[in-house]
Amino acid sequence: MRILAIESSCDETAAAVVENGRTVLSSIISSQIDIHTLYGGVVPEIASRKHMEHIDYVVERALSEAGMALEDVDAVAVTYGPGLVGALLVGVAYAKALAYAAKLPLVGVHHIEGHISANYIENKELEPPFLCLVVSGGHTHLVRVADYGVYEILGKTHDDAAGEAFDKVARAIGLGYPGGPKIDQLAKEGNPHAIAFPRGQIADSPYDFSFSGVKSAVLNYLNQSAMQGIEVNPADVAASFQKSVVDVLVEKTMAAEKNTGMKKLALAGGVASNSALRAGMQAACKKEKIELFCPSPVLCTDNAAMIGAAAYYEFQKGVRHGLDLNAVPNLQLGER
Ligand code: KG4
Ligand code: ZN
Repeated sequence: MRILAIESSCDETAAAVVENGRTVLSSIISSQIDIHTLYGGVVPEIASRKHMEHIDYVVERALSEAGMALEDVDAVAVTYGPGLVGALLVGVAYAKALAYAAKLPLVGVHHIEGHISANYIENKELEPPFLCLVVSGGHTHLVRVADYGVYEILGKTHDDAAGEAFDKVARAIGLGYPGGPKIDQLAKEGNPHAIAFPRGQIADSPYDFSFSGVKSAVLNYLNQSAMQGIEVNPADVAASFQKSVVDVLVEKTMAAEKNTGMKKLALAGGVASNSALRAGMQAACKKEKIELFCPSPVLCTDNAAMIGAAAYYEFQKGVRHGLDLNAVPNLQLGER
């Protein structure tokens, strides 16, 4: 079964053709990073307009690289939430028009379910149940994937998402947007033990996260150093901040692995491409004899192949959406 999938929830316009949920026949990603960099972050109105400009071309290329015409696909899938409402609407309206014109079934997909399903693409043997740490620009969730499309949220962030904290700290150090990959690079030259930034904990919620404290601690450190005329080493700040985020993510995830008795762990979302997080999880999983799955970086950040993978399993379960499908900016995982 071949699904044409579309993703436009934030700042990438993406389309892909995915066969049987696991094989990517094509995956096209048009990034808007250059334009949003000028403003230091994603400007929603610009994102919607750029999606409008690029979506035709991106979908056409996804079909042509897969060597297919629209009539050759079996279903159209699209991210309908969560995300920026104007950005989501472009993909949703486009997918509905395609499904109507070609008389194809339509499957709306949850963006985070897409991130989780990115793990199925390169790991053909991976099947639920497993634990998944979803760390992106908008979300930090510790999820027990009980079955395809069946999720139990064990914990989530009470404030900033992990990627959001990376982006804000990067901006404060003067690295620009998006900050995650830039902090990752700079941290390689710094000392992670140079500055003791706090590790966010939530009382009585062992699997919940908080990243606003560490973010504020970095901002305070930079401000105080500037007021006292002390020169800071940006690489040490990046490395110490990254360590405090990674330590918390590894510690809480491993506690959840132990307490749930899970022997499989998957990482998902843009921050899952962070080299320190991958190394930290690898070391912890090796020690605890847990099998670790982590998508290639291009499948961690936003793409449509992951939406095609998720859509396949939703389709198998009988999920179909009508032409009244709407964008749902705050769609909850597991909600339909
Ligand atoms: O999953 P994603 O592409 O979009 C959302 O659904 O949010 O994640 C983007 C986030 C951004 O915050 C970006 O800074 C972060 O992922 N990110 C990273 C890395 N690559 C991307 N954070 C840390 N280290 C990285 N290497
Ligand atoms: Zn995403």
